[in-house]
Amino acid sequence: MNDYTSDLITKASKYIPGASYYTLGLNYPGLPEFIIEKGQGPYIYTTDGIKMLDVTLAHGSLILGHSNKIISEAVQKQISMGTALTNITKPAIELAEIMVNTIPCADKVRIVNSGTEASILAVRLVRAVTGKEKILKFEGAYHGFADNLIFNTNYGKPSEWFPYPKASSDTLGVSASQAETVLIAPYNNLEITSRIIDENIKDIAGIIVEPVMRGINSQTDFLQGLRTICDKYKTPLIFDEVITGFRVSLGGAQEYFGITPDIAIYGKSLGAGYPIGAIVGKDSLMRYLDPSSENGEHIFSIGSFHSNPLCSTAALYCITELQKNRSYEKLNSYGDGLRSGLSRIFKKYELPHFMTGLGSIVEFFFTSEPVIDYKCSINSNLALKDLIGSKMAEFKVVGGGGRYTSSTMHGKRELDWMLEAVDLSLDNAQYTGALNSILEKSNK
Ligand SMILES: Cc1ncc(COP(=O)(O)O)c(C=O)c1O
Repeated sequence: MNDYTSDLITKASKYIPGASYYTLGLNYPGLPEFIIEKGQGPYIYTTDGIKMLDVTLAHGSLILGHSNKIISEAVQKQISMGTALTNITKPAIELAEIMVNTIPCADKVRIVNSGTEASILAVRLVRAVTGKEKILKFEGAYHGFADNLIFNTNYGKPSEWFPYPKASSDTLGVSASQAETVLIAPYNNLEITSRIIDENIKDIAGIIVEPVMRGINSQTDFLQGLRTICDKYKTPLIFDEVITGFRVSLGGAQEYFGITPDIAIYGKSLGAGYPIGAIVGKDSLMRYLDPSSENGEHIFSIGSFHSNPLCSTAALYCITELQKNRSYEKLNSYGDGLRSGLSRIFKKYELPHFMTGLGSIVEFFFTSEPVIDYKCSINSNLALKDLIGSKMAEFKVVGGGGRYTSSTMHGKRELDWMLEAVDLSLDNAQYTGALNSILEKSNK
């Protein structure tokens, strides 16, 4: 680490809590080992001048890679015309049009600043529409950091959780009364989920689900089963497409699986690295965001930067770019190549594993059992996964411990780089004995 970097980290320790913006698992992950200074395509460059392959991509947001020229030029042009223009803006209108033409459930669109904001609005909307209060979410799903859904996420401590359907908060600072408004069900388990819904339907305002839950695939019939239950009870179904939207296909997971929710929320890839969120849905619900709605049937939703022209421009050009150049063929073939390459490497080290994820969302777990829900994922050998994660930076890869993403800028060279890094991480762990020690511990 050069002096410049170590000075920055010292300054960060002085002025930023924990010198980190991560509170993953609510554990302190230690001081950063490097600081990213710039990004270009699939690579980042640290303040030490080291080039690294980026497979985290701002939590999966940079679907066109870093500093995409077309997006940067469009945003720069917009900067010269104003960065915050208040109320609806031309780029946000054009963005809404392209989203309606692309996303099956979208009759109307509202642009906000993050996935968290979109999920806050989605919850408020279904409560307003149904006059009910409880939201059913799935164990292990993350829908943003807001108070209303920060329960039983993948960041919590499952050993301390209540049995279904009682919600357990994953952070201090959330009012206990919030927990009373959330019901928890196991992902991919229609039997338990429908029992919880049947027993609580008089209070349920909506069901929110990630169509691919943090890399765990939804099983055939699960999403369809939720659709059928929601139709039966006339309960709004919300797809959280913050990860899947514009990543698994242009119309998101709803297009990929052929199941249309009533509302969907977006973020990440939509903005190609610019801070944006969106809520889209059927007219019958979205009319609650229309201030001229009859009988005063509307909800409060104002943000100083909503409909922001810069981020809307980025999103507009992002979707236009994704429509071109066989983007999804490229993204999916990289993802499939990574999944099969990783599996080949894990077999070489005789590590039982389960590969999952969809297209360019690539996830793996060390276990002989299929991973279909959050409990299965935490029962896998996470120490082994962490071992690989902890070593990847040595082999010049940012983002080690699974749920790898890619961009349209990731090609054969990056795939080879990535696979070599995983192979070398395991080879090194085998040589030092760290691999055996973890395997022995997990056999006890
Ligand atoms: C599925 C899902 N929903 C919502 C969010 C929150 O989005 P943001 O970080 O933009 O607030 C995330 C973020 O990781 C996410 O993965």
